[in-house]
Amino acid sequence: MDKKLHIDLQRVPKHVAIIMDGNGRWAKGKGMSRVFGHRNALTAVRESVKAASQINIEAITLYAFSTENWNRPKLEVDALMRLLINSLKKELPDFQKNGVKVNAIGDIESLPKKAQNVLNDVIFQTKANTEITLSFALSYGSREEIVNAIKKISKKVVNKELDLEKIDENTINNHLYTFNLPNVDLMIRTSGEQRISNFLLWQMAYAELYFTDILWPDFRQEHFYDAVIEYQNRERRFGKTSEQLTE
Ligand code: IPE
Ligand code: IPE
Ligand code: MG
Repeated sequence: MDKKLHIDLQRVPKHVAIIMDGNGRWAKGKGMSRVFGHRNALTAVRESVKAASQINIEAITLYAFSTENWNRPKLEVDALMRLLINSLKKELPDFQKNGVKVNAIGDIESLPKKAQNVLNDVIFQTKANTEITLSFALSYGSREEIVNAIKKISKKVVNKELDLEKIDENTINNHLYTFNLPNVDLMIRTSGEQRISNFLLWQMAYAELYFTDILWPDFRQEHFYDAVIEYQNRERRFGKTSEQLTE
């Protein structure tokens, strides 16, 4: 069965965010090291981007490394950074072929210099692509992002570039790492954990949350479409009554 046929192309989420979780448990289940799990995560990334692109989703954001993940064993952190560098290099031709515009959100300057260089290069080379925007959340923490935004806004107020009374939700939006992305409509988390883990707190204020037990390395196009179908079956009321929506 082609799950895509069950999707209403007029009502797809604009922005899907994914917490790619479960690599460690996937590997452990196979008697392998955690890093083996991370190394087997790329297929799921490819499948998700392809699935999203095929139904004309504008933006997809993948939580790849959190501010908290710096506290993992150094060996694992180093392996993740190496994987990031190698995967970006390896995927660049496909990003170009598929019109994928790459973006990054997070405290990018805290990444190793080499990772920053490769990332900036891929962002630069794909900047004219228009099929879909793929953002990698790297050294990303929503609280860090909000603190950073407040600092930038405060500086403008102090320098009299911004009137305190004029600060509104748009001001905050425009100072977040996601300033050029639409709000998140759908958030998917794999591996059965049901929490947000410091991901896009502001941007997910009204997102539909979808949790699946599938471990990230096993996540495929059909699982992505399951989430979109579930999203389309929900009634997004934004505080209104059900009757108001059908009026
Ligand atoms: C997600 O998988 C990938 C990253 C956080 C980098 P995990 O590494 O968290 O895998 P589990 O949750 O331990 O199974
Ligand atoms: C969240 O997963 C971060 C990423 C997927 C990159 P974690 O596995 O680090 O989150 P917790 O510790 O279970 O909340
Ligand atoms: Mg995890």
